[in-house]
Amino acid sequence: VKANLNGTLLPVEDARLPAQDHGVLYGDGLFETLRVYGGRFFRLSAHLERLRLGAAQIALQLPWTDGVLIAALEATGAANGFGDGVLRLTVTRGAGPALPVLDGCGPPNYLITARGLNPQAGSPVSACFAGRHPQASSPAIKSISYQPFVLARAEARQRGFDEALLTVDDTVVESSTGNLFAVIGGRLITPPLDSGCLAGITRAAVLEIAESALGSKGKPLSVEERTGSVRKRDLLRADEVFLTNSVSGIQPVVRLEDHTYRMAPGALTGLLQRLYRELVARETAG
Ligand SMILES: Cc1ncc(COP(=O)(O)O)c(C=O)c1O
Repeated sequence: VKANLNGTLLPVEDARLPAQDHGVLYGDGLFETLRVYGGRFFRLSAHLERLRLGAAQIALQLPWTDGVLIAALEATGAANGFGDGVLRLTVTRGAGPALPVLDGCGPPNYLITARGLNPQAGSPVSACFAGRHPQASSPAIKSISYQPFVLARAEARQRGFDEALLTVDDTVVESSTGNLFAVIGGRLITPPLDSGCLAGITRAAVLEIAESALGSKGKPLSVEERTGSVRKRDLLRADEVFLTNSVSGIQPVVRLEDHTYRMAPGALTGLLQRLYRELVARETAG
């Protein structure tokens, strides 16, 4: 497997960030995970835009143009013979003093790593409530400081579940690796961005297709970004629950705590999965 460190392709074992990099010392950096379909990226510009928005929020000046990053991503995909796979673009603050300060840091580093697709990606998962969401009241940036998500997921695995849903009091924000949707009484509901959830690229695509999809009774499907977020009890009485991210697309939740949903994927989840696959195929067609 080949990685790309600041434009140099090298074996992933040899792709090392300096020990003084504030990404290593303080988790000070950002990342994007991109799914590659037949050698093409889905919504690459949305990923780069989110990276730049996040960078502005943490006062990180990215010295690379989009063209440089796109060429690096393409070269890394090609070096790994993609196809279908996953690339992760990580940017870090760069080397600096061994103090949690911004002064004297930089230049930033970028690192692109590649992995194959897990054949299970997108298949139904079980989930439980675990951990408090870390960004409930601050802007949702895709920080590399993922410790709360890693620990919540570990707790879920220990309890025999696949995924962890992170909560704030009795509201649920998102899962440790994706955004959260529920179908309740024919309405599609998702926590709003000000809940602290990540502004998911897949979430935005699902909202787009849901707006134009038809509901089960032939009426336009109503879509709600529910303020006050989605409560735990709303999810437990929902007809359908699913998670979204770039790697897995739309992932049905088959069981939440001790509640099993009647169908996974449910009818609406199945419809949205099909429409999402079609959207990706259209946008990544050669
Ligand atoms: C915490 C979290 N929320 C949401 C998402 C979904 O984001 P996207 O659809 O842009 O992949 C991810 C993706 O990794 C994530 O880690």
